[in-house]
Amino acid sequence: MSILICPICKKELENRGRSEVCSSNHSFDYAKEGYLNLHINKNSKAPGDDKIMVNSRREFLNKGFYEEISKEVNSIINSKLSENYKVLDVGAGEGYYTDKIAKISDKLEVYALDISKEAVKKGAKTYKNIKWFVASGLEEPFKDKSFDCVTILFSKLFQEEFDRVLNDKGILVVVSPNRNHLVDIKKVVYPIIKYENLEPQEELNEKFILEERKNVFYKKIVYGEDIKNLFHMTPYRWKSPIEGVKNLERLESLEVTVDVNIDIYRKKEK
Ligand SMILES: C[S@@+](CC[C@H](N)C(=O)[O-])C[C@H]1O[C@@H](n2cnc3c(N)ncnc32)[C@H](O)[C@@H]1O
Repeated sequence: MSILICPICKKELENRGRSEVCSSNHSFDYAKEGYLNLHINKNSKAPGDDKIMVNSRREFLNKGFYEEISKEVNSIINSKLSENYKVLDVGAGEGYYTDKIAKISDKLEVYALDISKEAVKKGAKTYKNIKWFVASGLEEPFKDKSFDCVTILFSKLFQEEFDRVLNDKGILVVVSPNRNHLVDIKKVVYPIIKYENLEPQEELNEKFILEERKNVFYKKIVYGEDIKNLFHMTPYRWKSPIEGVKNLERLESLEVTVDVNIDIYRKKEK
């Protein structure tokens, strides 16, 4: 049975070859790359990350700079869940981490969702072992309690929807930047550094309990093109002073601090 629901009327979607159709006859066609676009409530024409961000992220991540994060996420998923399970990666981007998760076992069914068509298109072209959807994390096109695990890496949190699509024993894995993450870029780009301490626990507190937190901390030297790619895959791209960006572009190398928290949450009992 399908776990997909129609984004318009919320009825079950039924597969008819290259399309998914609900009983109210709303129909959605698979793109040639294999993804399904179920995003309907658009406030902007091209929401989410654009092509430059998506391509920069693909280049940077494929060089293995964040491999330690991916390994830790996989080890957590492996230790917490049994063999046959469904995973949803929300805000999956171009799918670097999602693909690594899917490779834990061929008994896993892995779904990836992102609001950015550019990201989903790129992911779906490369990683055929994953089911790809353009959709918002605010309106996830899946039935209640469909997943054993929801992962969210460096993306927005959608507490209500995570709670709805996870089954009662499910886990929510959240990867978020800690205090010193990429502080070296901030030091080059900004005249004064603000240490933002985003605390996912506060945002998830109503529906979820933090079960475990792991910190991944290391430093790596990044060179030329890769510094640019790293900069363009982060939100700093939108909010940096021009002088600061020029300083960064002049660098031949930069030692970069990776400092992220990997949290495991469980649903609160109702
Ligand atoms: C910083 S990127 C992280 C991508 C990927 N998880 C990774 O770590 O490589 C954040 C992603 O969230 C997506 N995004 C932003 N708003 C979203 C929303 N409302 N629903 C789903 N995805 C969203 C962006 O398009 C982008 O691909």
